[in-house]
Amino acid sequence: MFDEFPTLFSPENRECLRVISVDDEIVSAICYQIRPAIIYGVTIAVASLGAVCTYESYRGHGFATQLLDDTFAAARKEGADVMLISGQRGLYQRAGCAIAGHEYRFSLTRSEIDSISSTADATVTLATDTDTEVLADLQRTEPVRFVRSPEDWRAFATLFRLVRPDMPEPFGVMRCWITRINDLPVAYVVLKAYRSKEGRVTMHLVECAGSRRHVLAGIAQVAKELSVEVVEGSLLPGDVDGRSVLSGIGVTPTVHPLGGHRFSILRVDILDRYRNWLVEKVGPAKARDLSITEESGTWSLRTDAKQIPVGDLEQMNSVLFGDAVHDLRGSDDALEVWRRALPLPWLKPGLNYI
Ligand SMILES: CC(C)(COP(=O)(O)OP(=O)(O)OC[C@H]1O[C@@H](n2cnc3c(N)ncnc32)[C@H](O)[C@@H]1OP(=O)(O)O)[C@@H](O)C(=O)NCCC(=O)NCCS
Repeated sequence: MFDEFPTLFSPENRECLRVISVDDEIVSAICYQIRPAIIYGVTIAVASLGAVCTYESYRGHGFATQLLDDTFAAARKEGADVMLISGQRGLYQRAGCAIAGHEYRFSLTRSEIDSISSTADATVTLATDTDTEVLADLQRTEPVRFVRSPEDWRAFATLFRLVRPDMPEPFGVMRCWITRINDLPVAYVVLKAYRSKEGRVTMHLVECAGSRRHVLAGIAQVAKELSVEVVEGSLLPGDVDGRSVLSGIGVTPTVHPLGGHRFSILRVDILDRYRNWLVEKVGPAKARDLSITEESGTWSLRTDAKQIPVGDLEQMNSVLFGDAVHDLRGSDDALEVWRRALPLPWLKPGLNYI
């Protein structure tokens, strides 16, 4: 596990590993990392939390719950805006985390993969340890991304060297391929291929950056080399280019809540971070009016003129980042503005998955 999460289990992140010990033995642990993310120009600090575990014989005593409460408090104190948790357990739901966000999922069959035309002058090669700057340059062109330092990139590059003892290379682990046109890097794809006991090979797109046409061509080339039968992946709703190249081969992705995660706002003034987004959605005057409030565990949407009760924190997260604003009752102007403003955009963790 330590090898799979190199930025989480690093000496620099030591303070973010929280544990409970009984008789000098660590019995429960949780780990998080706070990183900035850029979402269409909005910069927020995301606390990503994972590696939650309690020894079997100590489960059900509230240890993970205590660690989670402690982590929320610590992350808030350190200035995090949102808590992102890999996993969808009741434990996280009770802390107010919602299944929200949106992704457009797609699945490519073998015949669809075969229909993707390769570009004659493109080369698709495995990324090496010396390619981290190339990867960083491409990732920086993405409008929605985690901010990664050169150290982060070097740590992530170690993931591409992992091997699984139970599956022969390159199955069961992540690999990164870079597409170049006349030596110019134009896209990268991080893919994870699996081979079932029956020999069926499937592949999952973990992350991509750069020209979507070359992302798709890169996926197709790797899929052909590895005799992949199905490729699964997803795009963010704002990825118009990605959706258009998929539609070019007759594939229409379907919208789903973001898979594998729950998340929650950590501060009541979160809309201040999203103010520019709100300006673009509803105009400056109305954007200034929008805020959220919390009183005795009940959250509300507020405009200058009106307060709209939402419910608990999980419901508020679903309203802010999911589709729940459309379930709120009422038909007045204030609710109409909120329906235009929401959902707030969110991101996919990709390599930053914890
Ligand atoms: C998930 C996991 C970390 C929970 O650890 P834990 O210390 O047992 O967690 P808690 O005791 O706080 O909560 C567990 C359950 O005990 C209950 N509980 C909490 N305090 C309790 C108490 N004082 N007495 C009795 N039960 C209690 C909770 O209601 C909870 O039930 P629920 O989640 O089914 O609703 C643990 O089961 C584990 O290590 N699982 C394997 C690894 C894993 O799946 N990690 C999570 C990845 S997403």
